[in-house]
Amino acid sequence: MPSPEVRVFKDLEELSRQAAEDFVNTVERSDLSARPFAAALSGGSTPQRFCELLASRGVSLPWPRLHLFQVDERCVPPDDPRSNYRMLREAMLDRLPGVQFHRMQAEWPDREAAAASYENDLRTTLGTESGAWPHLDVIYLGLGEDGHTASLFPETAALAERRLAVCANFVPKLNMYRITLTLPVLNAAARVVFLVSGAGKAEILRQVLRTPAPPASLLPAQLVQPSGSAPTWYVDEAAARLL
Ligand code: 6PG
Repeated sequence: MPSPEVRVFKDLEELSRQAAEDFVNTVERSDLSARPFAAALSGGSTPQRFCELLASRGVSLPWPRLHLFQVDERCVPPDDPRSNYRMLREAMLDRLPGVQFHRMQAEWPDREAAAASYENDLRTTLGTESGAWPHLDVIYLGLGEDGHTASLFPETAALAERRLAVCANFVPKLNMYRITLTLPVLNAAARVVFLVSGAGKAEILRQVLRTPAPPASLLPAQLVQPSGSAPTWYVDEAAARLL
């Protein structure tokens, strides 16, 4: 397994600017005429500035030809303050007419049906062959202080999911359900980029990047090992303090 690329930036603003440039470069390197370009974005707070910059006038992208998916969603209404969709809508989607955004309908009472519907949308949009995993061009992930990523939390059922591409996951520590892409989809992506910011992430980042663990003890973020290339880590100095 090649070593992950770790890029350290002064602060969240610079990290976000570089991540937005990374996104533009990834789009420009892809052949939009050959197949749909698909990216997946995480929720939480770290990616907010990155998303704002993507929607800024300084960034020119063929948005109607790009498909944006969600990495995960909290099972709350789309206008709930906890909704990842609400963050993405306010940070970027409201300013990007024409972008093909695929929302996880995590507010459905039948969470398994919501996950299945999203998997169908993902597979249909990407033209995924039966028996294969949906192949996204790039997935932007965050890192929780417990080592979770997406909504794949330690010791939760979704972490072991190897049949579904999208599943519902109950997270006991939050006492809430989430809808999330599963590890096989994360690892089938052409590129995975982690965005990690803040002193509060320094210890977990050190564990994830510098503390090898036996396979049975790997943290969720350590299980993200895309077959194409090792993840790229965009981190700020505060989060990189212990590296
Ligand atoms: C979510 C995210 C989650 C997030 C991490 C980091 O729904 O919360 O998908 O995996 O990326 O928890 O969150 P912060 O960026 O807010 O630290």
